[in-house]
Amino acid sequence: MEKSDIGLIGLAVMGENLVLNMESKGFRVSVYNRTVEKVDKFVQGRGKDKNIFGARSLEEFVSSLKSPRKVFLMVKAGQAVDDFIEKLIPVLDPGDVIIDGGNTHFPDTARRTAYVESKGLLYIGTGVSGGEEGALKGPSMMPGGSPAAWPLVKPIFQGICAKVENGQPCCDWVGEGGAGHFVKMVHNGIEYGDIQLICECYHIMKELLGMSNEEMHETFAEWNKGDLDSYLVEITRDILAKKDEDGNYVLDYILDTAGQKGTGKWTAISALDAGVPLTLIGESVFARCLSAQKEERVAASKILQGPAPAKFTGDRKAFLEDLRKALFAAKVVSYAQGYALMKAAAKEYGWNLNYGGIALMWRGGCIIRSVFLGKIKEAFDNNPEIANILLDPYFSGKLAEAQSGWRNVLAQAIVNGVPAPCLSAALEYYDGYRCERLPANLLQAQRDFFGAHTYERTDMPRGQFFHTNWTGHGGDTVAGTYIA
Ligand code: 2AM
Repeated sequence: MEKSDIGLIGLAVMGENLVLNMESKGFRVSVYNRTVEKVDKFVQGRGKDKNIFGARSLEEFVSSLKSPRKVFLMVKAGQAVDDFIEKLIPVLDPGDVIIDGGNTHFPDTARRTAYVESKGLLYIGTGVSGGEEGALKGPSMMPGGSPAAWPLVKPIFQGICAKVENGQPCCDWVGEGGAGHFVKMVHNGIEYGDIQLICECYHIMKELLGMSNEEMHETFAEWNKGDLDSYLVEITRDILAKKDEDGNYVLDYILDTAGQKGTGKWTAISALDAGVPLTLIGESVFARCLSAQKEERVAASKILQGPAPAKFTGDRKAFLEDLRKALFAAKVVSYAQGYALMKAAAKEYGWNLNYGGIALMWRGGCIIRSVFLGKIKEAFDNNPEIANILLDPYFSGKLAEAQSGWRNVLAQAIVNGVPAPCLSAALEYYDGYRCERLPANLLQAQRDFFGAHTYERTDMPRGQFFHTNWTGHGGDTVAGTYIA
């Protein structure tokens, strides 16, 4: 019997679609599933008359694969992955590769890579983004794990992934251990931020400018033609126009309580752990939490006072242009923060991340795909060591151009009581990052006052710590200096 190029375990929609994608690119694929009936159903249904082998046992599955074997797990993240790893280790040979394409938290991937390698096998944890359609037609893929496994799977991964200009694949090696799943996590965090920013623009258009769904649809359609050209702006345009059978806008009937699966939260927690100000993504997670407190908000809306409903009297066209620029500027800040987090993680975990390559992986196939990511790739091409994307000449120029309109939008939103936490978190970061002297001198004075935590001086070299006896009563004993 002809052996397969790769095997996939886990025939839910994502798994099935990846199999069909691989088969369509000329690879022979073996499939297996815990509930074996799903194998039969698939090979007799969507997988019928294709170069696919349905295995009815794990042994049959493993012996149907070319050596070194490549086993792609597309099962529920968590225990199911560990369970399959345990089942596979005894039946695989040294040098075979286990791949986890699920939505796994990166520390689990780091742990599994080390464990599987200790058994003589190779491991890959890969982010797969783009949902069901991406899996079928070309996802963005972010693989990490055992470096020796990459050449073995590269032709398949780069064969099935999304492609952008000149056929460049949206998949490349990310790094060791949990690097691939880390980058996928940051992708999801950025997705939270992008989504929330668009929602805030919608809120401002609706509440401040009193725009109709049709007008907003047209505005997003216009925005999607310029430097905001992206999948999320495109679907927002289409959502705003969608009517049900009765001619009502679907959007107007959707309850305003956001769900989440936790990847944004993981990103924010990583940032807190690393001490990286990832304020926009953090706000986007909290904005979802606040939206979920529907009953409390309804009750509070009857008690807590705000300004009278907004009546916009200015130049609407000019204001919308300010808003468009504010969205772009805030997006730049969000990606700058996300990249800063990846840099900090790379340092901590010893990954040699290719930042431009990551932008290219996100350029197509995934939910945050956009023209904008091409500009981030260019920023790293121009200067691979750039400290912060905001400093790239293209982006600093765009921010300079946007900043006054951005301030105007937020001033109007604040005066009129329309919340815009992410647009404003981005501006706060921009102003903080470009501030030569922050008020942390006072902060340090306070810490030294109440806790003898010491401070550094502007007129002395860094690394020397001083204490003042602020009250005349305290002694000269200082607390140990610590970095939180
Ligand atoms: P099932 O069809 O047997 O439920 C998505 O849920 C995929 O993950 C399915 O293929 C499902 O298999 C698999 N899966 C979920 N939990 C699992 C577990 N504990 N062990 C093995 N496979 C599991």
